[in-house]
Amino acid sequence: MPEADDHGEKSFFPDVPASREPFFLKGACAYDWGMQNRLARIFQAGSGRTVMLAFDHGYFQGPTSGLERLDLNIVPLAPHADALMLTRGALRSTIPPTYIGGIVMRASGGPSILKDLSNERVALDMEDAARMNVHAVAVQVFVGGEHETQSVENMTRLVDSGYRYGIPVLGVTAVGRELTRDARYLGLATRICAELGAQFVKTYYLEEGFERVTAGCPVPVVMAGGKKQPVLDALTMAYRAVQEGAAGVDMGRNIFQSAKLRATQPEFHQLRRAE
Ligand code: R5P
Repeated sequence: MPEADDHGEKSFFPDVPASREPFFLKGACAYDWGMQNRLARIFQAGSGRTVMLAFDHGYFQGPTSGLERLDLNIVPLAPHADALMLTRGALRSTIPPTYIGGIVMRASGGPSILKDLSNERVALDMEDAARMNVHAVAVQVFVGGEHETQSVENMTRLVDSGYRYGIPVLGVTAVGRELTRDARYLGLATRICAELGAQFVKTYYLEEGFERVTAGCPVPVVMAGGKKQPVLDALTMAYRAVQEGAAGVDMGRNIFQSAKLRATQPEFHQLRRAE
């Protein structure tokens, strides 16, 4: 018999099953709501894809070309990316708090380009990451590097604290100069990151065997950009990476060092000066 209250008859639709939609990202169905929600701020729910704009380079190399003025070089680009990969200094000093896209924050650091880069430590407290509403933290992992174990421990410590706050960890596979960037090596490095808890992994594209790297990684892989290339080459590399299993890209220099973009900046900022 129907029940009645102040709003009329209640309808419970007993013949309509509750939704049991699985979460859309690879390997992510068992995470808590907060972690899934943050991942959905980085990856588009419809496609499972992301375009991340990386400009965290200053954390070890200072004001590199294209990042001399984050406010002028990067802020105008921010609305065009799904997520920004940056440092907490850049976020607090430069990114308007009205920004509502994804935020992936650099959480390891220490050595500058003048030293051994693999000797990193955790450089961000997860409580501060939560205070800034970040959607993931990123940590460099130097598989095969002199400080391999220390960098893996940096990651696992962040994964543990990330679970306490519902903040995912991006494991970034850093390839030392002495190592060969091939499918065997990147398959090893990405798999170690995923098995030890990273919720997504960033690695380089390979002409040979990239699809084996993405298939062997149980969580989403995003492609790192690397050095500036001609625009068509960079776009072709990104297209192939996605065709071969990447969930998206996390690119820096191929965007902010673009000659076309750099050429439009003086005009753009001239307009701002005139305002
Ligand atoms: C590298 O250590 C940083 O995490 C960069 O954010 C990353 O390598 C992506 O930048 P790019 O596309 O310039 O290589």
